[in-house]
Amino acid sequence: MSLAFIDLAAQQRRLKPAIDAAIAKVLAHGGYVMGPEVAAFEKALADFGGVGRALSCANGTDALVLPLQAWGVGPGDAVFCPSFTFTATPEIVPWVGATPVFVDILSDTFNIDPAALEAAIESIKAEGKLTPKVVIAVDLFGQPADYPAIRAICDRHGLKLIADSAQGFGCTLSGRHPIAWADAATTSFFPAKPLGCYGDGGAVLTKSDADRERMDSFRVHGKATRSDIEGVTFDHDPKYFNFRIGRNSRLDTLQAAILIEKLIVFADEIEARNRVADRYAAGLQGHVLATPAVIDGGVSVWAQYTIEHADRDGLAAHLRAQGIPSAVYYPIPMHKQGPYAGFPQPNGLPVTEAKAETVISLPMHPYLEPADQDRVIAAIAGYKG
Ligand SMILES: Cc1ncc(COP(=O)(O)O)c(C=O)c1O
Repeated sequence: MSLAFIDLAAQQRRLKPAIDAAIAKVLAHGGYVMGPEVAAFEKALADFGGVGRALSCANGTDALVLPLQAWGVGPGDAVFCPSFTFTATPEIVPWVGATPVFVDILSDTFNIDPAALEAAIESIKAEGKLTPKVVIAVDLFGQPADYPAIRAICDRHGLKLIADSAQGFGCTLSGRHPIAWADAATTSFFPAKPLGCYGDGGAVLTKSDADRERMDSFRVHGKATRSDIEGVTFDHDPKYFNFRIGRNSRLDTLQAAILIEKLIVFADEIEARNRVADRYAAGLQGHVLATPAVIDGGVSVWAQYTIEHADRDGLAAHLRAQGIPSAVYYPIPMHKQGPYAGFPQPNGLPVTEAKAETVISLPMHPYLEPADQDRVIAAIAGYKG
């Protein structure tokens, strides 16, 4: 029998009555766009993240561009980010006319290497063509980047920090969420993400009322903010007052209603994911090049359980033959992709390039049964390559 890589049906069995009721409520009140569930979900999300403000939006990609727009990042500005990530991380940088600068990762956690980051900033400054403005750290595969070190570097160089927590929303470091260090933390509610909805969705957490207000404007076609119209008299709906060029990036009310129910069980699911990860780590020891290392004091939400194997492709075929799915995130780093190859990569990306050859992700979700996990472990232990 084939295993699921991510079993959304198992979660649905647990939540179906609550989600059905939440959907029925939205259908009854008919507020499909910006209905009451959107604000209620934003409040619940902000509380979960331990921060005062959250802004929902249409997807995790828009969530990344909204802070750049709010901060006025544009042509001539450098935005530092890893190359070992999903396309969305660097993709939004040229959207605002700025330049992504690729930084290498740490060999054990796959997250941005603070020493390489500082070296890249120094190189860009020395070259004098671009102005360093923002760092985007990614919580790859679910675990927090080294935020204390990255924040210190950002402070030394006067840079803003975004935590791209699309894969890591809910992760903590010393008990704190990435927004404790970042100026904005973003997430995606793509269905397969640890906190996913039944379609596309995203959100930004922020500590700043002014940033939230500006991002809200960019989210809705550049509509007037309260401060835009302070003292201005007009006789029409303020939403037809456009102060900047924005986009349409609202989270659907139905998705917000679904997410409210999913958020209620999220902490419990994170614990379950960690039990699954612990069982993998114990069972796979000695059978693979590396099981995942989590940063000291960190708690991962395990968006992926990613091991390293010398014959990754052979192992994938061996697993497939036994009905066990696997996936490679990411086979081609961003700086090797055509549209991104010309962007700066100041000191090379040797760790990124090596990891792209060895990583392979295994079935991972909170409802993975021990017997099914043991099947995966036995199949890997039995692979002689
Ligand atoms: C690291 C990272 N950032 C951003 C995104 C973009 O999220 P979305 O697909 O919701 O636009 C993803 C989605 O996979 C991601 O993995």
